[in-house]
Amino acid sequence: MAEGIEVPDFIGGKTIHPYSDFLLDDIGTGDNIPQAAKPEYLDPSTANKFRTAPLWGLRFRSWMMHDGKSVTYHQAIERHAGEAVKARDRYEHLTPVQKGQLQAFLNSL
Ligand code: HEM
Repeated sequence: MAEGIEVPDFIGGKTIHPYSDFLLDDIGTGDNIPQAAKPEYLDPSTANKFRTAPLWGLRFRSWMMHDGKSVTYHQAIERHAGEAVKARDRYEHLTPVQKGQLQAFLNSL
């Protein structure tokens, strides 16, 4: 933890399930914008990368993915590529009932 930052008891030490790996991935934005919370941490190797949004609270978002262009879970999942292509393939082989169960699960996060 950064020096001088103290997490208060009422938000510290809690178990949460954010459902993200919080990794930076090159998802093809090509925007050349390095990712950092503070200018002193700017790292050029993060240019063109985007931090994966947690699925936690997904039901409160009307648009998804880095560009907000997916408005249904189906659209968002169908745009998975690269490392996530296996997950997308598995999704495509689910029965309509199983897809409904996945939707219900995502709505529960
Ligand atoms: C059952 C499996 C999965 C489901 C249901 C799922 C669902 C989703 C959804 C709904 C989003 C949009 C989140 C938002 O914008 O608020 C998302 C984003 C993302 N997911 Fe997945 N995902 C799955 C597996 C994976 C796997 C296995 C990977 C990679 C190893 C992955 C990588 C990503 C990335 C990088 C994003 C952000 C993409 C962007 O913002 O353009 N996902 N996922």
